[in-house]
Amino acid sequence: MRIRTKRDPQSYTFPGYGTEAFPSLLLRGAGDLDNWKIQAYEGRHEGYQALRKALASAPAEVTEEVKRSGLRGRGGAGFPTGLKWTFMPKDTEEKKVTRYVVCNADEGEPGTFKDRAILEYNPHQLIEGMIIAGWAMQCRMGFIYVRGEFKWLVDKLDAAIQEAREQGYLGKNILGSGWDFDLLTYRGAGAYICGEETALLNSLEGRRGEPRVKPPFPAQVGAYGQPTTVNNVETFACVPPILRMGGAAFAGIGSPNNSGTRIFGISGHVKRPGLYELPMGTPLRFLVEELAGGTSSGRPIKAICPGGSSAPFLTAEDLDTPMDFDAMKAKGTMAGSGGVVVMDDSVCMVQVALRLAHFYAHESCGQCTPCREGCNWMEMILHRIEHGQGRMEDLDLLASLTPRINLRTLCPLGDAAAGPIESILKKWRPEFEHHVKTGHCLAQESHLLVGAH
Ligand SMILES: Cc1cc2nc3c(=O)[nH]c(=O)nc-3n(C[C@H](O)[C@H](O)[C@H](O)COP(=O)(O)O)c2cc1C
Repeated sequence: MRIRTKRDPQSYTFPGYGTEAFPSLLLRGAGDLDNWKIQAYEGRHEGYQALRKALASAPAEVTEEVKRSGLRGRGGAGFPTGLKWTFMPKDTEEKKVTRYVVCNADEGEPGTFKDRAILEYNPHQLIEGMIIAGWAMQCRMGFIYVRGEFKWLVDKLDAAIQEAREQGYLGKNILGSGWDFDLLTYRGAGAYICGEETALLNSLEGRRGEPRVKPPFPAQVGAYGQPTTVNNVETFACVPPILRMGGAAFAGIGSPNNSGTRIFGISGHVKRPGLYELPMGTPLRFLVEELAGGTSSGRPIKAICPGGSSAPFLTAEDLDTPMDFDAMKAKGTMAGSGGVVVMDDSVCMVQVALRLAHFYAHESCGQCTPCREGCNWMEMILHRIEHGQGRMEDLDLLASLTPRINLRTLCPLGDAAAGPIESILKKWRPEFEHHVKTGHCLAQESHLLVGAH
């Protein structure tokens, strides 16, 4: 895995977009094997200085600083983090309402592989961010819900938590503040739905991982029935730099309303796949062409999935779109989890749609009929089109299915399944028609033809 963080501060030239210099905030030292240790974090990266600063301030002031930073959640939806923290009950210490802070380290979205780099190379930044969040929301306990397949990362995370305890950053009377807080890791069992925050809470409690009906929202009734805030790994990791540099300075990085840096993961048909930390709002073209080197085959780009598999597809015409929540939304897609997948013109989009439909049909928890039945129907229709048994009316049937799944489910898994398939059918409909008419794949036929010359 390529991790572009060696230069600190990094300085990239944006051809045609001016020059930007920015600090690496999230992956500092990533790639250095000892970077996960507390000595490296304290010694090289001002580790736990932000916690000291936070503990010297009132909890509400810390939340205000996070609000000032404009930080938006990196788990997918881009919800403002400081605002989310204010939803927790405002009652005082004396009332002793047990509340929890939970880190979503499920990272199940296909095409996404950023959180694991923080867990592997910079776990103390996540831990420090969670302790600060715990202080801001006056929690006594935090959980890190980690995807089951990340077993080796949980061992490392547990070791890092133990290091933090030994230094007095976790446990009783943290740094003499009189406040107690501790962290526990919890391994999921490997279901995509357990990344949805309320399914995650059910799973954390040992129940079946199914989304809950909302309201009540987790800030009212969360883990074990208590007020809870769930944030993504990268979101928490942004908190120490925010406190160190100040919310206003963080807000000055990135594009308007989309502050800070973000770890973009790029994969697929590119020369240099990997993780790149860039300011929010960096043009997609810079990531795809400059950093990742364009297509490995030298062939034209056909499709780009800009934010994990739930994001509707873009084409090469959209390469100048800034990678932030608002600009991606304006293009009819989403910045999502920051996982960019590039496909060259050898790819059959019917096959891509089928692969996605299979994933979502398999991962639907089955609670809501439109998602459970709809995802299966999408897969069945796409399966017959891909295998030469499609009918022309299947295309309209498929087009009529997606809006009947979208926004009709308890959680956004239904939308995540419908959106990308809808976009593929809209943008590459002739490929579907060719499949139905000839039983063959247009993309692969032309790929072979060009390859033969
Ligand atoms: C099906 C599904 C899967 C999700 N998977 C993840 C995930 O793996 N990691 C994550 O942080 N958020 C995931 N989310 C989003 C979470 O529900 C939640 O919005 C997020 O953890 C909030 O954190 P943030 O505000 O810091 O972004 C998923 C949502 C859905 C609907």
